[in-house]
Amino acid sequence: MLSEEEILAGIDRTARSVTSFYGDEEFVVVSILKGSFVFASDLVRRIPNRIELSFVGVSSYRDGTESGPLEWTLFPTEDEFAGRRVLLVDDILDTGRTLSAVRSELLEQGARDVHSCVFLDKPARRAVEFRADFVGFEIDDVYVVGYGLDWAGRYRNLPYLATFSPEADPSRP
Ligand code: PRP
Repeated sequence: MLSEEEILAGIDRTARSVTSFYGDEEFVVVSILKGSFVFASDLVRRIPNRIELSFVGVSSYRDGTESGPLEWTLFPTEDEFAGRRVLLVDDILDTGRTLSAVRSELLEQGARDVHSCVFLDKPARRAVEFRADFVGFEIDDVYVVGYGLDWAGRYRNLPYLATFSPEADPSRP
C-alpha cells in the first residue's frame, strides 16, 4: 500500500508540522507500544526540538483483526508527565479507544497538554470521538501490516505497509 520511500516522505511532512506547532518549546514524545516503535523512531529523528522520549504500553485484546478490552502493559510512573507538554505517538488511529484512554490518563496525571500524532488514520472505524492533531496518512478500512503494525504479532518488521488478508496466511494460529 505504501513503499518505504512514500512512508519516509510522509514522515518528513508530519515531522515538519509537529516542529512548527511546538516552535521552541520542549515536549515529551510518548510512544505507545508496541506498534508505534518504528514510526516513533523515524519521527523523532526528524524533530530538531529539545524533546524527551517515553513509552507507555496499551494493548487491546484482539481476536484477529477486531479490537477488544484495553489492558495497560506499561503504565506511566507517578508524576512522569506532571506539568509537561506531551505528544502521543501511535501507529494507527482505529476505533480511537487507545488514544482516548491514554490521553485521559495522562491529563489526569497532570500533563499540561496532550496532542497526538499517528502514522495512519482510519476514520471509517472510529467508535469514540477522537481526532489526531497530526496524521501521516489517512487510509480506508482495510487491514494493514508492516512498519510496526502486526497481525497476531507478526509482520511488524516489514519496512513498507501492505494490505493483509488473515485467510491468506498459511501459518495462522
Ligand atoms: C493497536 C495500535 C494502536 C491501537 C489502535 O495496538 O498499535 O495502539 O491498536 O486501535 P484503536 O484506535 O481501536 O484503539 P494493539 O492493541 O493491537 O497493540 P500493539 O500496539 O501492541 O500491536
